Amino acid sequence: MSPKIKTFKKIVTTSWLLVPLLFSTNIAASSLEVLHWWTSPGEIQAQAVLKEALLQQNVDWQDFAIVGGGGESALRVLQMRALSGNSPEAAQIKGPDIAEWAKMGMLNEVDNILPVELWDKHLPNIVKETISYEGHYMALPLNIHRVNWLWLNKAIFEELQLTAPTTWNEFITVAETIKKAGYIPIAHGGTTWEDSLLFESVALSLLGAEKYKQAFVQFDESVLVSQDMITAFTQFKQLYRYTSQDMQGKDWVDASQLLSDKKAAMQFMGDWAKGMWQASGKVVMEDYLCVDVPQSEGLFSYNIDSFVFFKKHNNKIQDNNKRKFVETLISSDFQRAFSIQKGSIPVRINMDMQSFDSCSQKSYADFNSNELVPSFSQNMATSSYLQTEMSKIISNYFHNDKATAEHVVKQLSLAIRAVNK
Ligand code: GAL
Repeated sequence: MSPKIKTFKKIVTTSWLLVPLLFSTNIAASSLEVLHWWTSPGEIQAQAVLKEALLQQNVDWQDFAIVGGGGESALRVLQMRALSGNSPEAAQIKGPDIAEWAKMGMLNEVDNILPVELWDKHLPNIVKETISYEGHYMALPLNIHRVNWLWLNKAIFEELQLTAPTTWNEFITVAETIKKAGYIPIAHGGTTWEDSLLFESVALSLLGAEKYKQAFVQFDESVLVSQDMITAFTQFKQLYRYTSQDMQGKDWVDASQLLSDKKAAMQFMGDWAKGMWQASGKVVMEDYLCVDVPQSEGLFSYNIDSFVFFKKHNNKIQDNNKRKFVETLISSDFQRAFSIQKGSIPVRINMDMQSFDSCSQKSYADFNSNELVPSFSQNMATSSYLQTEMSKIISNYFHNDKATAEHVVKQLSLAIRAVNK
C-alpha cells in the first residue's frame, strides 16, 4: 500500500471516531443524501427515473452531484467529506474502491438491509464478486456498462460508403478517408481517463482477455513490459492524429456532441454515451451505430455502477430508507426503466430485453457469453488512486510525440509497483 493511501486511511479511520462528536444531521427523516457524478443529459434522465421511483417509496433523494465524467472530482470531494467526518449517506463507489472504503470500517453492509438470498438469486457472479468484501455485500449494484464499444455516425459512414472497421488496419484506412473528407475521424475528450479508456480498448483487443487480466488485474510485470504491451502502446499512439484536437477542459459529453452534430465519425466510449444521445433525441441504428472495438469480438470490458452506504450515527430512520432504496433499485421494472435511460444493461439476470434497443440487447447477450474483463479506466480493476496514476502516464505518452512505447511500459510498470508496495 502506498504511503499516501496509508496516510489517508489513517486520517479517515481516526476522523470517523470523531463523527458523532462533530456532527449532527438536520436531514429530514425521509431524505437520503447521495454523492455522485451523473451530470450529463442521459445521466440526469436516468437519475430522474431513480428519484421518481424512490419518491414513490417516500424516499427523497438529495443530490450531491459533482460534475466530471469518470468521477475523479466526485471521489476527491468524497474523500474530503470523509476526512472531515461528514460523509454523505450514500455515494457512487465502484470496483476495488468498495473494498478500500470497507477496510476502513466506514461502510454499512448491504446484506444486512435485505436478505442475502435475494441478492444471490438475482445477481451475476461477477457482480457479486465486485461488491463483496470479507464475505459481505458492501455495495448496491445498479447497472452494467460495456466499455469496449466503437460508435459510428451513420450519416458519415453512408455518405463516404464506408463499412465498420473490424481490424486496426481497416480502422486506419477508414480514418484516413474520413479525415480527407473533412470530418474528424475520432471524437475524443480532453481528460486523462478518456485517454486511458482508449488505450484500454486497444490493449484488450491486442492482448486478449488473459494477458489483459495478467497485466491490469494481477499486475504481472512480465506482461506489463512485454513486446505485446509495446505493440499495444504503439497502436494506441497511431490513433492520436485522428482524434479531435483542442479538447482541453472538455470531456466525453463534448466529444459525443461532435459525433451527434455530424462533425466527427467515430467515438470510443462506454455505452453511457448512448444515454446522452438518446436524451438529445438521437436514435440508435438511425443516427448512430454501435460496433465492437476492432479485434475485440468476444471480449467485454465491464463497468458496474454501484452505491455504498456510509455509517452514520442516527441509524434508525436511515435503515428504513436504505431498505426502500435497495428494494426499489433491484426490482426488474426499475432495472429496465433506469438502464434504458442510462444506456447500460440491467444488473439482474434473466431479464426480458425486448424493450431495449439493439445495442443493449447485444450487450446483454455478450455479457452472458463473452469473456469478461474489468475496465481499468473505469476503476473496475484497480483502486481509483492507482487508476489516476496510470491514466496520467498513459495520457502523457499519448500527447507527447517524443515519448516512446518502450519507455512508457517501464514507467507504467514502475508506477504500479510503487503504488502497490
Ligand atoms: C463512469 C460511470 C458511468 C458514466 C461515466 C461518465 O465512471 O460508471 O455510469 O456515468 O462515468 O460519467
